[in-house]
Amino acid sequence: MQIIRDIAMLHRAVTALKQAGGSVALVPTMGALHDGHLSLVRMARRVADHVVVSIFVNPTQFGPNEDFAAYPRDEARDAALLAQEGAALLWAPDVATMYPGGHRTHVEVAELGADYCGAARPGHFDGVATVVAKLFNQVRPDVAIFGEKDWQQLAIVRRMARDLDFAIDILGAPIARDADGLALSSRNAYLSAQQRAAAAAFPAALQAAARAIADGADVGETLANASAAIVGGGFDSVDYVALADADSLERLTALRHPARLLAAARIGKTRLIDNLPIA
Ligand code: PAF
Repeated sequence: MQIIRDIAMLHRAVTALKQAGGSVALVPTMGALHDGHLSLVRMARRVADHVVVSIFVNPTQFGPNEDFAAYPRDEARDAALLAQEGAALLWAPDVATMYPGGHRTHVEVAELGADYCGAARPGHFDGVATVVAKLFNQVRPDVAIFGEKDWQQLAIVRRMARDLDFAIDILGAPIARDADGLALSSRNAYLSAQQRAAAAAFPAALQAAARAIADGADVGETLANASAAIVGGGFDSVDYVALADADSLERLTALRHPARLLAAARIGKTRLIDNLPIA
């Protein structure tokens, strides 16, 4: 697996892969890879001939009081895992390559980025949409794969790709979970043993709420019960538990398909997100 840090070299390497025949899939990541990321790489290998993984801890999607500096980084370990999974290229630019001096352009997917995580993290999704658009232009893949764990991000990337005419298939990969149901996340590494044990209350509350809503329970009451169960299970606060249109992300007060239950909650200093489809 080649590790590339320069855009001209990346273009040459991707062109060579395409000339060798076949399609290219991009898996964008911020590193600190876990089994969830590796499941995206495996999916990429199934749907394309060559896999490019990017690792870039994107400063523009972190707020001033967020964990950009502390975000876990271990490129050597990540590169070894990706080589084992059969990735062809690791695209690992530094901040000056991604955002050269004088960089002023950004991408905003209006409305879709304002609610849910966007409300708690102003500017976050502009940072995501901007870096993903840049990654698309840099790598020029045929397919790009994003985890469904960040459903809002996936919906925003899909809309951005459509609105800006990127000829790239955007695929969502199912959420990888630990045995107790907690969604895999690089941020789970921040949890103490006690917090990690309590964190299982989060997916459990969401599963109960998703079943209740599918069975016809009142949406407002069910969402309130889910928030209470999450806090009762040891979380410090709930940013949101919401029923949303799965594509437009519009908040729903009554079930209408396709719908998705979206949630974010805080335990100690760690903010976790999760979501579930409603059958
Ligand atoms: O989901 C992530 O890891 C990031 O938001 C992404 C898509 C790599 C953009 O920085």
